[in-house]
Amino acid sequence: MTSKKILLGITGGVAAYKAAELTRLLVKAGHSVEVVMTESATRFVTPATFQALSGHAVYTDLWDERPSNAMAHIDLSRRADVFLIAPATANTLFKLAHGACDDLLSTLAAARACPLIVAPAMNRQMWDNPPNQRNMAQLRADGVAVFGPANGAQACGETGEGRMLEPEEVAELLEGFFCAKVLAGKKVLLTAGPSYEAIDTVRGITNISSGKMGYALARACRDAGAEVTLISGPTGMEAPLGMRRVDAASARQMHDAVMAEVGQSDIFISVAAVADYRVKNPSAHKIKKGATPPTLELEENPDILATVASLPAAPFCVGFAAESQNLLEFAEAKRQRKKLPLLVANLAQQAMGADDNQVALLDRNGPHPLPSMPKPDVAKAIVEHLAKLLPQNQ
Ligand code: C5P
Repeated sequence: MTSKKILLGITGGVAAYKAAELTRLLVKAGHSVEVVMTESATRFVTPATFQALSGHAVYTDLWDERPSNAMAHIDLSRRADVFLIAPATANTLFKLAHGACDDLLSTLAAARACPLIVAPAMNRQMWDNPPNQRNMAQLRADGVAVFGPANGAQACGETGEGRMLEPEEVAELLEGFFCAKVLAGKKVLLTAGPSYEAIDTVRGITNISSGKMGYALARACRDAGAEVTLISGPTGMEAPLGMRRVDAASARQMHDAVMAEVGQSDIFISVAAVADYRVKNPSAHKIKKGATPPTLELEENPDILATVASLPAAPFCVGFAAESQNLLEFAEAKRQRKKLPLLVANLAQQAMGADDNQVALLDRNGPHPLPSMPKPDVAKAIVEHLAKLLPQNQ
């Protein structure tokens, strides 16, 4: 995202320490961060920490005379692109939901002209408390964006929902918040990663796909406003925030997972590097070393993408082609054979496992080559292109 002016509100929860790392990350990403703290927040972390990390004066007091017109409660949020409150305590969320204006932070929220985002942080019982849930519903209805909370270990020793997201996660979601919502209201189903076909109980046939391109596309679709379901082969990567991930190892498991979901999908993006063949009779026990090497008999896997693309009510289908030679020619033939409105062509030896990728987007108007870019940028370009091809945008 281009550089933004972020007003970061910090309220009095133990997760306030995470706001220090968040400030550092946002500044590192090129944003301008101004910090406002509640009185209780200053009991957990000091304004000096945030002054040093943000490079700006920190505000805590409604009666602060530093802004030229002594109107801190209006000035600070008027010059911001977004007001992000992280952590947001149950008390602050209650105040925001009811329009309270009894300190600088709540008054800034009431007087703001920019979007408001909250990252709640509290004990799981406080999170589930019906009044808190009512406040959250009110805030959502008022158009406030809610990041998290996460489920996990809490400072109080309990485990459950209410933990503030990690600083990297808040920064990632904030990045997405500013993306154009070109897929708003769309349901996207996406496969990613390698497949794994068992030979015996401990060995299998797989490939060097890392899942990075598919996960980047899943995030780009989420950031564009889509509801995303990610069917993932074994990648070892964390499930991206804000989407449902279904794990599937073999081509047949991936096929079944896709077919169970595809009826509800507007768009299907097939990024997974699915094995064309599987072992016909995988051994139920570890194969022992013997005098003669074992022979593997293979049989064909279902082509998930071709199956989905030929459904009577097929979603908008996007395929990938990883070729090692004659890229555009082989890829265009694949696009036509699988009946795809959009196919992303890349060189297998450059793309698989790498952080950057150079692709060409193939549609009925021909190839659209893109420069080599980090995979998250490639993903954004694919999403922008595919949104233009959707039937209602034609
Ligand atoms: O024919 P090829 O395997 O090169 O086609 C690649 C495209 O088809 C990718 O989008 C891949 O995800 C998809 N595919 C599939 N099921 C298979 C093989 C490939 O969905 N069994």
